[in-house]
Amino acid sequence: MTLLKTENLCKSFGNLEVTRNVNLSVSSGERHVIIGPNGAGKTSLVHQLTGQLRPTSGRILFKECDITKVSPEDVCQMGVGRTFQKNTLFPTLSVAENVRLAVQAKQGGWYHAFRSIKKMTSHWERTYQLLEQVQLADNSDRRVSSLSYGEQRQLEVAIALAAEPDLLLLDEPTSGMSPAETDRMIELVSNLPNTLAVLMIEHDMKVVFSLADTITVLYYGEVLASGPPAHIKGNDKVREVYLGGKH
Ligand SMILES: Nc1ncnc2c1ncn2[C@@H]1O[C@H](COP(=O)(O)OP(=O)(O)OP(=O)(O)O)[C@@H](O)[C@H]1O
Ligand SMILES: [Mg+2]
Repeated sequence: MTLLKTENLCKSFGNLEVTRNVNLSVSSGERHVIIGPNGAGKTSLVHQLTGQLRPTSGRILFKECDITKVSPEDVCQMGVGRTFQKNTLFPTLSVAENVRLAVQAKQGGWYHAFRSIKKMTSHWERTYQLLEQVQLADNSDRRVSSLSYGEQRQLEVAIALAAEPDLLLLDEPTSGMSPAETDRMIELVSNLPNTLAVLMIEHDMKVVFSLADTITVLYYGEVLASGPPAHIKGNDKVREVYLGGKH
């Protein structure tokens, strides 16, 4: 089933066309990776999908609803989760407390939590489930400020997952990571439930080819090619502009 679809999506900043007639499609459970040179318009495209940037023209459909003009909060409510580029963690709280706040925000009960033991228990259960999912269960009591860079990014994924999305958007989740941290992120994403679709921007080709069911190549705001990894690897145009070793 098609979960997300863009139709002739265009975005301009003045004379600069950063998204040009993009037709993108993501199915339920698909692992879809967007690649392309710096400045190709990858982040701008994702910001349009989350409602952070308003397209100039074209449409975005999520679960067959037109979300082109929907606010970021409502897009999130509808099932599009994302991690943020900027650090949105609470550094002085523990790992588990950071996740629990996100779980509480999703499940409600801010005011009633103290009255309902049952609800509190279910918040903690969900919190530990999410920490298992991102391989941080053994670090649940640590202060966030004591986590490594890679662990903080794992935690950000747990927080995004707390919103129970059907589609998770990740903008360069491994940027700045060591090889070992990158391997952990690859494992984490491959172990996510196969009901969850992931749309990820990524530069590291090891990550791209380890995870992608589909790769879309953006070049000057346009889709240069889209298809299974083998198809993209063998595409002469893609090799020329991107995979040829220039980046
Ligand atoms: N708010 C803005 N106003 C004007 N120009 C912008 C704005 N945001 C992005 N751009 C420009 O749009 C183009 C695409 O930027 P974008 O960040 O989407 O590229 P990218 O593919 O994500 O690049 P990178 O790989 O470096 O992250 C760039 O030329 C950038 O300078
Ligand atoms: Mg970017």
